[in-house]
Parts: sequence; structure tokens; C-alpha cells
Amino acid sequence: MPDVYNWQLGRPMAYRFEPGKQQRQFAAVFNINRCIACQTCTMACKSTWTFSPGQELMWWNNVETKPYGGYPHNWDTKILDLQEKANPGKQTWDAARRDAQSAPYGTFEGKTIFETADGVTNQATGYIPTEEEWKAPNIFEDTATKYPSAGVTLPEHDGWFFYLQRICNHCTYPACVAACPRNAAYKREEDGIVLIDQQRCRGYRKCVEACPYKKAMYRPSTRTSEKCIGCYPRVEGSDPLTEGLPMETRCMTACIGKIRLQGLVKVGPDGQWLQDRQNPLYYLVHVARVALPLYPQFGTQPNVYYIPPRWVPRAYLEQMFGPGVQDAIDAYTNPSRETLAVLQLFRATQEIVFSYKVEPGPKTGELTVAGQKRELFNDTVIGFSSTGKEIVRVTVDEPLIERPAQFAMNTI
Ligand code: SF4
Ligand code: SF4
Ligand code: SF4
Ligand code: F3S
Repeated sequence: MPDVYNWQLGRPMAYRFEPGKQQRQFAAVFNINRCIACQTCTMACKSTWTFSPGQELMWWNNVETKPYGGYPHNWDTKILDLQEKANPGKQTWDAARRDAQSAPYGTFEGKTIFETADGVTNQATGYIPTEEEWKAPNIFEDTATKYPSAGVTLPEHDGWFFYLQRICNHCTYPACVAACPRNAAYKREEDGIVLIDQQRCRGYRKCVEACPYKKAMYRPSTRTSEKCIGCYPRVEGSDPLTEGLPMETRCMTACIGKIRLQGLVKVGPDGQWLQDRQNPLYYLVHVARVALPLYPQFGTQPNVYYIPPRWVPRAYLEQMFGPGVQDAIDAYTNPSRETLAVLQLFRATQEIVFSYKVEPGPKTGELTVAGQKRELFNDTVIGFSSTGKEIVRVTVDEPLIERPAQFAMNTI
């Protein structure tokens, strides 16, 4: 089995295939702090792709309430448990063994789902959820760990919950692809989107078993498995709305809370993101390091990144996002001028922003956060398309529009 490099783990690991010849990778950043669990993203995906017979229990996008919720139920604790049983007491990180480029979060010293599998009957450790576990995607919605009578304060609450937005991660090392005996699951060279070829699929369900995020789903009416297709027609730019320019997906563009930013990043022959300082996703993940992968220890190198919720106990978040949590929360709660500007690009346009620049604006205020003095500036961030055309321009200060008195006819 070839050795591939997994930068999220800070080390090489075994994987069934060599990195492909891909040049771009589908990627996204989700800001957990802003999600209101309106499920607009969920319904945007459902009403576009999964409204047919046999797809009733299929939610390619779902938003679950942590720590108790999950779709399918307990998907993450089940896989964590399987991994712990396979490598007891050793699923740990060495956060001190870090390197700014090749191991920014430290080094994972445990085993990935590929390394705990036998490589013969299974390419990755996993399980197939029961039908019962797929039935209630919103179970435990809004359920907190407890409801302290004295209230709660930052930085960490002892009564807490948060919303976790989930789609397929279009992983760099997809477990679904590694597991399929028919090679029906594959990763596209043009954009790294992971698809299941419906002609080749024979319903073996090894993909369902192997995906640690449980984002490959079996459809009984066709006896094949399906998954999030990354809205590839939009990403390819075939939507007439954008005249050939790549467009963000349905679940991204519908987001009410403006928590999602999706795009395409450049990747090299080793499957890693190439340095591209002015790509907003590259900036947030690799420069500001404000966004982290979900369960990097599984080893698939997922390409959806999360800005962690700043009120949640750190031990829980570190299990979920790795040792970079506190640094990411610090970078979010006390953002640089550039980070604050780039965050304004979230949901400012439907077209994919390939690069940005920030124009400095005037100082607008001062405040103190956690004992630190901060200055605010009304900078402008400008986003450019794949052709270098300006597609969006937003300021850090939202414009305030006062409605004239004569239009106040809707007051009761
Ligand atoms: Fe959260 Fe946005 Fe989805 Fe609403 S649309 S649930 S804010 S991710
Ligand atoms: Fe495959 Fe699961 Fe990764 Fe999606 S999240 S690419 S289904 S392993
Ligand atoms: Fe659904 Fe498209 Fe979002 Fe995938 S990217 S979850 S297919 S809306
Ligand atoms: Fe392969 Fe999954 Fe189909 S394992 S055959 S893609 S059900």
C-alpha cells in the first residue's frame, strides 16, 4: 500500500491509492459560531437532489446539535469507539511535534481508520448504521448538556450545545473510494469532487461502511449508494446565471446565517494544497489557521474546515478538531485586520471567489476584548473570479440604512 502524506496528521500514512493527477480541490469553511440551525441548507440540498423514491432518509447536507445529536445517530462516537478498541489508549496527539508547514497542529501518534483495518477484507475500519439510526436526523436538536440556573459566561460554558453542519468532505484520501471493490466511487481530477458512478455501483455498501462521516448512503429503490455530488454542475460553471463562471453549491449559497464559504483551491502532484496566499480558503486554513478539519484523526484529510465554537469546553473540541482548537479560537475572537476582512466574503456572492485583496479603510473605533485593546478599521475586501474579474466588494462595517419616516406604513 502506498505511503501518502497527511498534513493534518503531521505524518505519512498508508492509503490504497497514490494521489491522483488533480489540479484543483473542492473545499469549504463553515463558521460554527454563526449557524442558527435554520436548516435552509438542508432543504436546499433535499429539494435539489434527494426528493425521489428511495431517498426519503437521505440528507446529503444535515445540521446536527452536538454533543448528543447525530445523523446517523452516534456516528462519531461509534467510530471513535471502534478506533479506541483497535488501538487502546494510544489514539493521542503530540501537539509539541509540530512544524509550521508540514505539521501545523502537531503529530497524530494513533492509528487512522486505514491503519486499524486489515487491508484484505476491509480497507478502512467502519460499520453500517441500522435503518433506525438514519430515521431521525434532528434528534436532540437544541439539547444542552445542562441548564445552569446562574447562567453562563465566556470563554467556556458548562451548559452548552452547538450546531455542526455536515456534508461530504470530498476527502483527499476518501475512505469510500478506498473501500469500493468495484472502483465505482472515485475522485474527479478536475476538482477533487468524490462521486459514485451509478452504472458501476452494485450496492456492496463498503463505501457506507468505510466513510467515517457516514456521508455515503444506500438507496434501496436503485440498490446503489449515493452521496453529495458537490453540486458539480454549479462548480463547473454550467449554471446559466453565471455565464460560465464557477458558482458555489446549493447548500452554501442558501445559507441564511452566512456561515459558509466554498471554493476551489490549487493542489500539487502530492495531493496537497499549493501555496495560494490570496485564495480566501487557503488564507483561512493555512495562514490565519482559524478553520480546522473535522476529526482529522480518521485520516481521510477532509476538505471542509470549521471555525470552532468559542463557548464549548476545549477538551470536547480538541477531540473533534485536533490540537489547533485554542489557536483557532484566539484567531477568531481577536482577528487580524485581514481575517476580519476575509470573513466578510462569506455569502457575499454566489460566484466562487478565487482570490481577494484588501483595501485599507479609516479607523472607526476602539474596544477592549479579554483585556486586550483593539482598533477597528472599515477596510474593503474585493473578491475576484477564476478569470480575475471583480465579482464582489464588501466593507467590514455593514452599511446602516435608516428608513425615512414616510415609509413607516407597516407599523402596527
Ligand atoms: Fe446553519 Fe446556514 Fe444551514 Fe442555516 S443555512 S442551518 S445558518 S449552515
Ligand atoms: Fe467519501 Fe465520506 Fe470522505 Fe465523502 S466524507 S469523500 S463519502 S469518505
Ligand atoms: Fe447537497 Fe450540493 Fe451541498 Fe452536496 S454540495 S450537500 S449535493 S447542496
Ligand atoms: Fe462500491 Fe459502494 Fe456501490 S462499495 S459498489 S460504491 S455501494
